[in-house]
Amino acid sequence: MSPDRSGREWAERLSRVETRNITFLDPPPPFWTEAAGARVRDAAGREYLDFTGAFGVAFAGHRHPLVVERIRGQAERLVHGMGDIHPPAVKVEFLEALTALMPWPEARGILGLSGSDAVEAALKTAQLATGRPGVIAFEGGYHGLTLGALATTDREHFREPFIRRLTGHVHFVPFPSTAEGEEVLERVDGLLARERPFATGAVIVEPIQGRAGVRVPPRGFLAELAAIAKSRGALLIADEIFTGMGRTGALLASDHDPVVPDLICLGKALGGGMPLSACMGSAQVMDAWPPSSGEAIHTSTFLGHPVSCSAGLGFLAALRSEELVARAARLGALAVDHLEAALGGCDAVVEIRGRGLMLGVELRGRGAKRAVRRALQRGLILLPAGDDGQVVELTPPATLAPDELEEGLEILVEAIRATRNGR
Ligand SMILES: Cc1ncc(COP(=O)(O)O)c(C=O)c1O
Repeated sequence: MSPDRSGREWAERLSRVETRNITFLDPPPPFWTEAAGARVRDAAGREYLDFTGAFGVAFAGHRHPLVVERIRGQAERLVHGMGDIHPPAVKVEFLEALTALMPWPEARGILGLSGSDAVEAALKTAQLATGRPGVIAFEGGYHGLTLGALATTDREHFREPFIRRLTGHVHFVPFPSTAEGEEVLERVDGLLARERPFATGAVIVEPIQGRAGVRVPPRGFLAELAAIAKSRGALLIADEIFTGMGRTGALLASDHDPVVPDLICLGKALGGGMPLSACMGSAQVMDAWPPSSGEAIHTSTFLGHPVSCSAGLGFLAALRSEELVARAARLGALAVDHLEAALGGCDAVVEIRGRGLMLGVELRGRGAKRAVRRALQRGLILLPAGDDGQVVELTPPATLAPDELEEGLEILVEAIRATRNGR
């Protein structure tokens, strides 16, 4: 069966059983059935090269052997524990391994299953630690779609239908790729100084804005932001759900600046493909959570899920043994060189930007959406990012072989050149 016909049939079946506006079905997408490394296969048997890392999750590649081995082993012993009552032992092992990587001498974490869970935990922690409910967030920022996280996400499309349920305790300020860094910092300082209409205890920021189109702030901006937050007694929450765990060629993107945030949200890559996220902080900040009076004040049925924690240990082992952080830096530099050489002088291109394996190619007009569509026809999976989908986002696995990198970039370059010719 042709990939198009197969996609149409699966899309029709899904549309009969899933609520509208949950899965994007127009045009019908490939329905995935298998994936390994950077290769994905769909229900029609067609193979693709995945340069999205499936929303950045497959940083260690799809089905990394160390992750699969851990999942398999865990599945034979314990598939579900009782989160906050009878916790799975592997949750302890995973948190021990993760805290050891964090930038504070003594770290603590709260696990979750999605990036939004980690953001909710960070916002609650900030309120407990400062006693101030307000939050400063950035225009274009994406922090998830649960109601607390959505209140800090700046996309009308997601906010508008639920606007009356979103807390009004959030100020948005421009991200410094669109405004002068100094002006932004002054605005943040002014807002933090105000007590009315509400006092602000946290600033949440993506060190590189992902879904807004791989927007990179000027060097030093995060460090200054952290200093201002500190001087006003507020916490800096680095949302590293997309950028963290090596994606940008450093373990944390905040390491580039360098800055040590008060709270760090992690997700996506963390579980090696299993749902797993974490809000991490220093023991001092996290001790704002009061001692338990017998029932946890923040938990959920699947929190600290044993298979996810086990997969997370597999991911951390892969990160170490394959030196994925350094690989991301190296492959990212190769990719930028390749794209600049191939697309230099191409008038369809506005900018090539990013760090490590978090790259964006901004195109004029509807070029990015066209290029993404054309690349898919040629077997390369990409996503458009940015308010108008004007940026082709590249977040491939760091396990990519150099010839796979080249193969994907060649398809991308051809697709971008074709958009210039109106195709
Ligand atoms: C920076 C950032 N924060 C939070 C989220 C939300 O994560 P999730 O979709 O797992 O809830 C995302 C997802 O794309 C993200 O990129």
